[in-house]
Amino acid sequence: MRFKKFSHRTIEKNATLLLVLSLLVVTIGGIVEIAPLFYVQNTIEKVEGMRPYTPLELAGRNIYIREGCYSCHSQMIRPFRDEIERYGHYSLAAESMYDHPFQWGSKRTGPDLARVGGRYSDEWHVQHLKDPKSVVPESIMPGYAFLAERDLNTQRITPDLKALRVAGVPYTDEDIEKAEADLKAQADPDADAEDLQKRYPKAQVRDFDGNPQRLTEMDAVVAYLQMLGTLVDFSAYVQAQESERGAR
Ligand code: HEC
Repeated sequence: MRFKKFSHRTIEKNATLLLVLSLLVVTIGGIVEIAPLFYVQNTIEKVEGMRPYTPLELAGRNIYIREGCYSCHSQMIRPFRDEIERYGHYSLAAESMYDHPFQWGSKRTGPDLARVGGRYSDEWHVQHLKDPKSVVPESIMPGYAFLAERDLNTQRITPDLKALRVAGVPYTDEDIEKAEADLKAQADPDADAEDLQKRYPKAQVRDFDGNPQRLTEMDAVVAYLQMLGTLVDFSAYVQAQESERGAR
């Protein structure tokens, strides 16, 4: 039978033929897996509440990256029971959709910070960042007291927003135009922040570093930390979990 010539045995005995056919199979498999990703609009499930960072939060995030906080802190809660009980609901992909670059991290010398927002007061954060051992005696975190002494650079923020827009973060023309004013207004308890909060829902407006006279890097870092994990509303989930615990 002529058919027999192309039996599996023939292929296995001919290294070149085997290689060519294997490559062909892998290529087809690869195309089938990868090609659809070029045609779907978004691979991230949309979640209510996510919005681009306010200029002040973004400035804080930039300092967080500059200081290498990510080398000790992750921002990604894995869907394991012990992590969820300690840190809260596991991280959703959408929660880091505006992060360029993301801060998931792979090292936890300190705790995960994905949901640290609102867990401590501003005063605690300022004191902790200045001198971690003064609030957590066994801490090995270095101090960052200089953040409270350095004025926040307000000129960088407009180009930052523009660059992020190129990367796909939906800042509007208005957001970009008002970036510098927004940056200052969020840390100023006397500012009229209604417009800011309309464009950035849940933006927390107050003096963060305990020094209302100055806009410092500490203001920005604390504003960033206090926002982490607060944008998406997980209260329905938490209630369900609590009633489940009560029932047990
Ligand atoms: C050398 C590692 C290291 C670096 C770098 C570091 N941290 Fe920490 N951090 C820790 C450790 C360890 C703890 C736990 C002890 C404590 O609370 O101080 C901690 C705790 C924290 C906490 C409290 C978290 C909680 O849930 O209790 C915050 C907030 C924090 N760090 C923020 C920062 C920020 C912001 C930076 C960068 C400016 C930073 N850390 C840099 C090690 C580090």
